[in-house]
Amino acid sequence: MATSQESLEGGSIVWIDCKSIAKSIEEDVRKRVDLLSFTPKLVSVVGTDDPSTASYLRSQKKKAEKLGIDFEIIKTSPGDFLSTLEKLAEDKNVNGVFVARPLPEGLDEKRVFSAVPVEKDVEGVNPENLGFLLYGEETFPPCTAEAVVKVLESVTEISGKKVTIVGRSVTVGKPLAIMLLKKGRDATVTVCHSRTQNLGEITRASDIVVVAVGKAHFLKRDMVKEGAIVIDVGINYVDGKWCGDVDSAVEEIAQVTPVPGGVGQITTALLFEHVVRAAERQKA
Ligand SMILES: NC(=O)c1ccc[n+]([C@@H]2O[C@H](COP(=O)([O-])OP(=O)(O)OC[C@H]3O[C@@H](n4cnc5c(N)ncnc54)[C@H](OP(=O)(O)O)[C@@H]3O)[C@@H](O)[C@H]2O)c1
Repeated sequence: MATSQESLEGGSIVWIDCKSIAKSIEEDVRKRVDLLSFTPKLVSVVGTDDPSTASYLRSQKKKAEKLGIDFEIIKTSPGDFLSTLEKLAEDKNVNGVFVARPLPEGLDEKRVFSAVPVEKDVEGVNPENLGFLLYGEETFPPCTAEAVVKVLESVTEISGKKVTIVGRSVTVGKPLAIMLLKKGRDATVTVCHSRTQNLGEITRASDIVVVAVGKAHFLKRDMVKEGAIVIDVGINYVDGKWCGDVDSAVEEIAQVTPVPGGVGQITTALLFEHVVRAAERQKA
């Protein structure tokens, strides 16, 4: 069971150990890179000067170097965005394409993501890859949704569990619901959003709560049942510190994934695992 204990003023909190999950994915990536007869390559396409995107791309670069994967950032104007993606589709030296968000204003997300070549869609944003999920086919599932599944599989038997997902985005909440419903995983899934009524009642009745809202301290202790598993997807920057969507008091009664150092690092590890997967498939 991937958990680690930390004493806290006489009591103890059980953190879900996401670091070791990320580490084992990265070890697997390194081994598979060594087995390839070429160096796989990821290209990240960016269209804005957003500082948090720039910082994320710097950490992608560092991780790529560590894993032996070539990495390039292409900065492009809104007008050239789609043609850049078309060129990357043709480029045989590129195995994975990542589109940085936020997109430049005026660009339609669905149109841009549809232009990410399906076989290089390492983030799982192309509607075709998302559609495969409905058939239980997870060739390139969205990395964060897959990260949540990996965490849950490492700490519990998902089958038959009541799971509530708070948040219905295309990248996290919706694909995760489909992945947890998949035959073989067999969770009973409820998806909540800003119009959900009596949210606390729903989350309190759940064995597992996944929060992907983007509001610090959103999930409070009285919204969670004792012994539940809580997956914190949120990333918020408050008072000079990173934190998730889960209030710290929840840790007193539930197993929680930490932020930072939780789902986010598994998401990044999986992005690179998808690059290797794409390279293996393109080679075959
Ligand atoms: N760790 C990672 O790797 C990773 C990856 C992706 C995102 N994130 C983080 O996860 C968070 C969510 O990201 P996202 O892209 O999924 O967000 P998003 O597209 O902004 O969606 C947020 C969701 O939260 C719901 N929501 C907002 N207020 C609510 C309320 N009061 N009660 C119930 N639901 C509420 C929204 O409902 P409506 O649909 O009704 O508006 C929406 O479905 C962000 O902090 C983001 O930075 C982390």
